Amino acid sequence: MKMLVTGGCGFIGANFIKAHLNNFASDTIVNLDALTYAGNPDNLADVAHDPRYTFVCGDIANSALVESLFAEQIFDAVVNFAAESHVDRSIETPQLFLKTNVMGTQSLLHAALNHGVKKFVHISTDEVYGSLGPEGKFTETTPLSPRSPYSASKAAADHLAFAYFNTYHLPVCVTRCSNNYGPYQFPEKLLPLMIANALAGKELPVYGDGMHRREWIYVGDHCRAIELVLENGRPGEIYNIGIDNEIPNLEVIRKLLVLLDRPESLIRHVKDRPGHDRRYAIDASKIARELGWKPFVQFDDGLAATVRWYLDNRSWWEKIISGEYRQYYARMYGNR
Ligand code: NAD
Ligand code: DAU
Repeated sequence: MKMLVTGGCGFIGANFIKAHLNNFASDTIVNLDALTYAGNPDNLADVAHDPRYTFVCGDIANSALVESLFAEQIFDAVVNFAAESHVDRSIETPQLFLKTNVMGTQSLLHAALNHGVKKFVHISTDEVYGSLGPEGKFTETTPLSPRSPYSASKAAADHLAFAYFNTYHLPVCVTRCSNNYGPYQFPEKLLPLMIANALAGKELPVYGDGMHRREWIYVGDHCRAIELVLENGRPGEIYNIGIDNEIPNLEVIRKLLVLLDRPESLIRHVKDRPGHDRRYAIDASKIARELGWKPFVQFDDGLAATVRWYLDNRSWWEKIISGEYRQYYARMYGNR
């Protein structure tokens, strides 16, 4: 199979590409990534010289570029990870989220349609469902109720994906996963930010009362779920991905502090995120039933492994925090 992966220099995309090349020896991957602040070619250093892997620096919202990429080569499948992914940034610059997450997705869907792609997996998020009260879980039929510019842009992209399925019969699947954690996560997201701050003896900024609840899934378990959807997901279907382990943010941070042997006095409650969703919980029974997926990594084990990875790979995140990671590819690709 020849696959186009977008956003492959980010956290989940990089983990996905490496796992896929490892597991499918005869497949080839083209990675289209704009190298925004979140895209880091270091994440793919292991495969950079693999003849089955090609990197293209470009914006998914540039429909002329996307169209020419599809015209040059035949892709059997597309997996669309590329997105502006951070909720806090979406509150600052919503328009960028619309451009990439909505217009970018549409540009890919259209090119995929024009060139007869056999499977298009669009990576969405549980955040499109909004915020839950104390009871219940998100199922695939829960009405969409996004509450941040990020989740609104992802919900719009999901609607476009289904519009291309219903109107043009493009074989699209949409996945909606809970919070991921693991190696190569950009240190603006909760876990890597807290690890980096704790190691530096800095305060850990907990939004509001810290009782917001999330489900935490190890990135490798998410990537295996995407592989199953790619292989056997039914076109036009949504697949929720979650692990049934919801936990308040404060408890996650306390677990981290124990693993890092740092004091709880580092915790500092700060002003809450505007519109902060209180609780997410996923019913992932459909993907288990239809595609046989189940998670392998329990949170305590995955968290310990992740802390170990950040301790063993300090130079990876220290270069990001210092801004050094952007210097060498700014020379290659220009400043973005
Ligand atoms: P990330 O921010 O780490 O990476 C995003 C990647 O997309 C980067 O490499 C960036 O350079 C690239 N990109 C951004 N704009 C682009 C554009 N216009 N054209 C081409 N490339 C562009 O994100 P992530 O955490 O790896 O998330 C990947 C996908 O998974 C996103 O679609 C996100 O909405 C979704 N998702 C993330 C999580 C999570 O917990 N991280 C959970 C569920 C779903
Ligand atoms: O649920 C899936 C989503 O998970 C993905 O779609 C998003 O791309 C991804 O960024 C993530 O969104 P969250 O907003 O849940 O992740 P974040 O790591 O930003 O925050 C996790 C929780 O921790 C959230 O309740 C906000 C809180 N938080 C976050 C930061 C960065 C803090 O309390 N302090 C912080 O400094």
